[in-house]
Amino acid sequence: MTVRHFLDIRDFSRDELLALLAEAKRRKAARAGKPKGAVDDDAPLAGHSLAMIFEKPSTRTRTSFDAGMRQLGGHTLVFNSSDIQIGRGETIADTARVLSRMVDAIMIRTHGHERIEELAEHASVPVINGLTDLSHPCQILADLQTLEEHKGTTEGQVIAWVGDCANVTRSWIEAATILGCPFRIGAPKGYQPEEDIIRWAKENGGDLFITEDPAEAVRGADCVMTDSWISMHHAPEEADRRIADLGPYQVNAALMAEAAEDAIFMHCLPAHRGEEATDEVLDGPQSVIFDEAENRLHAQKAVLLHVLKGL
Ligand code: CP
Ligand code: NVA
Repeated sequence: MTVRHFLDIRDFSRDELLALLAEAKRRKAARAGKPKGAVDDDAPLAGHSLAMIFEKPSTRTRTSFDAGMRQLGGHTLVFNSSDIQIGRGETIADTARVLSRMVDAIMIRTHGHERIEELAEHASVPVINGLTDLSHPCQILADLQTLEEHKGTTEGQVIAWVGDCANVTRSWIEAATILGCPFRIGAPKGYQPEEDIIRWAKENGGDLFITEDPAEAVRGADCVMTDSWISMHHAPEEADRRIADLGPYQVNAALMAEAAEDAIFMHCLPAHRGEEATDEVLDGPQSVIFDEAENRLHAQKAVLLHVLKGL
């Protein structure tokens, strides 16, 4: 039987992405009025276990997979890389083979994307990408769910991405291309997406527009998004240069005023308040950042059901 991994948004068709979103929405609705620790009525993952490996810090990914797995009736084993032998040089391939004998699925947050590819190659159970230097597909499912909740649909929504283009941006470019959302990027040279993802989007019919002018990117958009200027894979000594270069790309009230009147603001979090976005925007009436954070839980449950139950 083929193992179903969840490695990148581009591995899914439009219909598959919409099916994942529909399941996330159903799961969220079914939780209404329940204590957060209660198991879902159908307990579809009873008896299943998920091992989670964190080679980088996490609040949302860790909590959403842990709570989500328990709500589905299953349980988790959570490891920081220093807790397990991977931190002392055991290979990814051997780790994959060993964990596959004992758990039903593996989620990993790691550095180079090749590490997750190697894990998936050698695992005989599903592997889920909890963020690599290159991509963050789980985040994008939660973002799409949030977009749909606030705008009624993901169809045709114009997305503006401002500031640094890193892993979240790449996964968003993939989703926007597959779902047909115009995606406009405002970023300085050196902080724009890599050539290969631009080429992929163009080859796959994506409506991708890139400018160095943040106001041009945001003008009339339905959703404005940004991310930290210093991602976990960036060297700390780059921080001062990044903050200086990206200063003009801060999402503040003046930039939000360029978007559609009913535009929403999203941020995957954690935010560096006062850098990529101001408190006024993060806490303002257009911000949906905490719905977005909550939706990590519902979206992750859909991912777990997809890889373990073939949803
Ligand atoms: N957005 C996100 O992935 O958050 P964490 O780094 O806290 O998991
Ligand atoms: N681009 C950020 C996302 C954090 C969820 C990082 O990789 O640190």
